[in-house]
Amino acid sequence: MRRKLVAGNWKMHGSLAENEALLAGVLAGIASAKTDVAVCVPYPFLAQVQAKLSGSPIAWGAQNLSQHGKGAFTGEVSAAMLRDFGCKYVIVGHSERRSLYGETDEIVAAKFEAAQAAGLIPILCVGETLDEREGGVTEKVVARQLDAVIGRSGVGALADAVVAYEPVWAIGTGKTATPQQAQEVHAFIRGKIAALDPAVAQGLIIQYGGSMKANNAAELLAQPDIDGGLIGGASLVADEFLAICRAA
Ligand code: G3H
Repeated sequence: MRRKLVAGNWKMHGSLAENEALLAGVLAGIASAKTDVAVCVPYPFLAQVQAKLSGSPIAWGAQNLSQHGKGAFTGEVSAAMLRDFGCKYVIVGHSERRSLYGETDEIVAAKFEAAQAAGLIPILCVGETLDEREGGVTEKVVARQLDAVIGRSGVGALADAVVAYEPVWAIGTGKTATPQQAQEVHAFIRGKIAALDPAVAQGLIIQYGGSMKANNAAELLAQPDIDGGLIGGASLVADEFLAICRAA
């Protein structure tokens, strides 16, 4: 039986003061969570979350990393640096990184590999745009994104990773995929992995992300192949985030 994982992706939000209140609110209610819980925060706040969340049931991580180990890469942050701050997870290949910062499937695969080499658990984001969905190529796109990682690291690498299915058209738009739409793609992902390695597929946590909120989480999380959520906007409000963590 897979445990569910709800991870907050704060994106570029927060301040030291705002985070104090948000973390205190989440910590106050975390005992009622039915899932594993994590928050992925902007780099400058890693020290703060490490101080606040150490010893709590909440894990933390970052939203991106460099594919390089060290060197003259101004502005970049390595996997080892994230480990220094106690990170367990790192998001790789979020659609905002792919679309706004030109991250190709190859770069995402290199980042995935760099994360695992340092002992981090990558949360690999995959998902189609609205045009791609309407063009009937959702599965093709998701397969291509997965294949880049499998081709580089092998299917076995997914045993120590999380996949997040995030339809781009549902991110931050208030348009959630229906539970059936999401389940279909989750089942496709699991089936694709199962064809290569049934045990890895069976154990793989596949999160859904894209306007998951307190009022739609239970239905999504009830689907057989949806093993949690990657939560953007709703992770910035303690009660809303906690409600999702209780919804599984
Ligand atoms: O990583 C999180 C996703 O991009 C979802 O964001 O919940 O604000 O739609 P959202």
